[in-house]
Amino acid sequence: MEKLNRTKVKELLKDKPGKEVLAKGWVRTKRGNKNVAFIALNDGSTINNIQIVVDSSKFDEELLKKITTGACIGVSGNLTESLGSGQSVEIQAKEIILYGEADPNSYPLQKKGHTMEFLRSIAHLRPRTNTFGAVLRIRHAMAYAIHDYFNRKGFVYLHTPIITASDCEGAGEMFQVTTLDLNNIPKTGEGKIDFSQDFFGKQTSLTVSGQLEGELGAMALGEIYTFGPTFRAENSNTPRHLAEFWMIEPEMAFYDINDNMVLAEDFIKSLVRYALEHCMDDLKFLNDMFDKELISRLESVVNTEFVRLTYTEGIKILEASCEKFEYPVSWGVDLQSEHERYLVEKHFGKPVIMTDYPKDIKAFYMKQNEDGKTVRGMDVLFPKIGEIIGGSEREASLEKLENRINELGMGRESLEWYIDTRRFGTAPHSGFGLGFERLLLFVTGMSNIRDVIPFPRTPKNAEY
Ligand code: 4AD
Ligand code: MG
Repeated sequence: MEKLNRTKVKELLKDKPGKEVLAKGWVRTKRGNKNVAFIALNDGSTINNIQIVVDSSKFDEELLKKITTGACIGVSGNLTESLGSGQSVEIQAKEIILYGEADPNSYPLQKKGHTMEFLRSIAHLRPRTNTFGAVLRIRHAMAYAIHDYFNRKGFVYLHTPIITASDCEGAGEMFQVTTLDLNNIPKTGEGKIDFSQDFFGKQTSLTVSGQLEGELGAMALGEIYTFGPTFRAENSNTPRHLAEFWMIEPEMAFYDINDNMVLAEDFIKSLVRYALEHCMDDLKFLNDMFDKELISRLESVVNTEFVRLTYTEGIKILEASCEKFEYPVSWGVDLQSEHERYLVEKHFGKPVIMTDYPKDIKAFYMKQNEDGKTVRGMDVLFPKIGEIIGGSEREASLEKLENRINELGMGRESLEWYIDTRRFGTAPHSGFGLGFERLLLFVTGMSNIRDVIPFPRTPKNAEY
């Protein structure tokens, strides 16, 4: 057996019958009778299994007994045309190596369907299910498509820091990073924590966004993007919030808000198109199992023009609707996902890019409009998800930016480096952030964000 090279199941299923092959993987099911056993083997390369046909008389009974769901085996044999339905080829086993047993009494992933809640409690094993295999392969494909998209457009992948001393969104939802002894915290003369004794000599946190550093990159390299983990200590226990999530943040010099919207729409459509072109096996499975409208929803997003709508117009539509919202709407409130989804799913029936929000509900860096009340922010709102992208044109004027920072009482000492971009060679520029897991919610049709990331971090949960 060891003379043969292993072929992945994905390749075997496309292969022509009539040759000796070696497959390795985990047993999904074993069925059959005294004389013959049929093993469905999966190695993660595809949602599909390869069928192994075992003539029981040729193998040790003890070995066959140990080949149970979850066990890991290697099988060599002849790849032959399959007479059974559902597969074109199968392997007639000649030799079987048992790498690892999986005790049927304790292996939790037996054949029967499991709830998503149960699978979350065994996140270390759930990649072995069809559903999570599909989701994780799509997650990989989307990450690849993102780098490919920006590479083709000449954007530079900029690595922004994960540990930072600035709060980009100004929401105070940061996880602190410290090496101080929490049982014996050094204090200053005034009784405050003495961060000068901390590892970095100042107070630091995990980043909520790479944008501010991304802007520095754009003001030198022209067009950059980040793609990394971000952290938010917001106590939001919802199907759309994680405490650790991945974000893609392009930032472009010389783009105004309209250019920004055009890029965001093209970007997200191209990612969905990529999934339709490259992940169809997995999408079909998810479509059949969870969400019968998944594929048609993906196709419709690719083929439709997103609506452009100002916040003020959006509020008017919501106020005029007869819908009973949990949170009432009026000009000035931050929209909830119920409002966003009403506009997208019921009113327009397609994605919406909403712009020109009240400045008081948006971050300090957004470009201020002439009216003195609104800023040139934009959110892309999606069916089933609500906000999938948040972005804006940035305030390029030194004076206006400084005034806003002062108005909000933000400590400008820690932002001098950022303000320097406006001091030296400022330029109009824009950018946005796409929540990677929100994108995956949309593309996979999963309904909980904890099910599109391998190891979710949410309030009171940091297993593994
Ligand atoms: O709207 P947000 O907070 O915008 C920013 O962070 C900007 N600095 C982005 C930029 O302009 N460069 O977050 C952007 C996106 C949201 O639209 C959402 O998709 C996602 O990040 N997001 C989350 N995803 C999962 N869990 C959370 N707790 C999230 N918070 C935001
Ligand atoms: Mg936002």
